[in-house]
Amino acid sequence: MQLPRYIAHRGLSEHAPENTLAAIQAAADAGCEWIELDVQYLGDGTPVIWHDATVDRCSDGRGALIDMTREDIRRLDVGSWFSDDFRGERMALLDEALSLVSALDMGLNLELKLNPGHDAEMLAGVAVHRARQVLPQDRLLVSSFDMTALEHARSRDDALALGLLYEAVPRCWASDAERLRPFSVHADWTRLEQERLIEVQAAGLALLCYTVNDPERFASWWDHGVDGVFTDDPGLFDARYQRQTR
Ligand code: G3P
Ligand code: MG
Repeated sequence: MQLPRYIAHRGLSEHAPENTLAAIQAAADAGCEWIELDVQYLGDGTPVIWHDATVDRCSDGRGALIDMTREDIRRLDVGSWFSDDFRGERMALLDEALSLVSALDMGLNLELKLNPGHDAEMLAGVAVHRARQVLPQDRLLVSSFDMTALEHARSRDDALALGLLYEAVPRCWASDAERLRPFSVHADWTRLEQERLIEVQAAGLALLCYTVNDPERFASWWDHGVDGVFTDDPGLFDARYQRQTR
């Protein structure tokens, strides 16, 4: 699998409402090859692209996603909170997002987002199944903070590329890796320790950092060998880093 240095976080979320079809399209228009999106499911089981447990922050409605149906979320405007230019944007269903990513020939890091009330097996089952129907193996990386969700993903697809998602990389990361056989480890860059970076890369895994929107403060981590970053705007970074990694 070949990942670029920059993965557009929640789509091109600096320039379009996060986790929407508009943000996916904006990322493609800006030349991004890969994006990250969060997936969870509604109360009726429909998988959707959304980060928070509620719709309060990023829509004109209120309430928990787990209490909503597909019909409920179709009534929400998820663009106006960001800018009038995106008025009328609708919450993206997973299937719609996958179709667009595929049509745009992009790669996708699909993050399995386990908010309260969600079941890891159900989310992993539906998300991995649908994503693998649409995207080729080398264009899909499935990650999660929830190791149980990743275990279910692995059990469904032995060849699936997995990313272990942590805040600070714990000392026990290697036992997670032994069990899950991931492609990469994803870490909060403000909590990254060089020792962990060295260990992860020595094990042959890529180390990706989130969410990096301050290229100057981050610069020394390139020198330490970080493989790539999730950023709300890849355009913030110096062109000399716009090269492929592993
Ligand atoms: O997958 C990297 C990053 O998206 C994890 O944090 O909260 O932005 O989903 P969050
Ligand atoms: Mg995410």
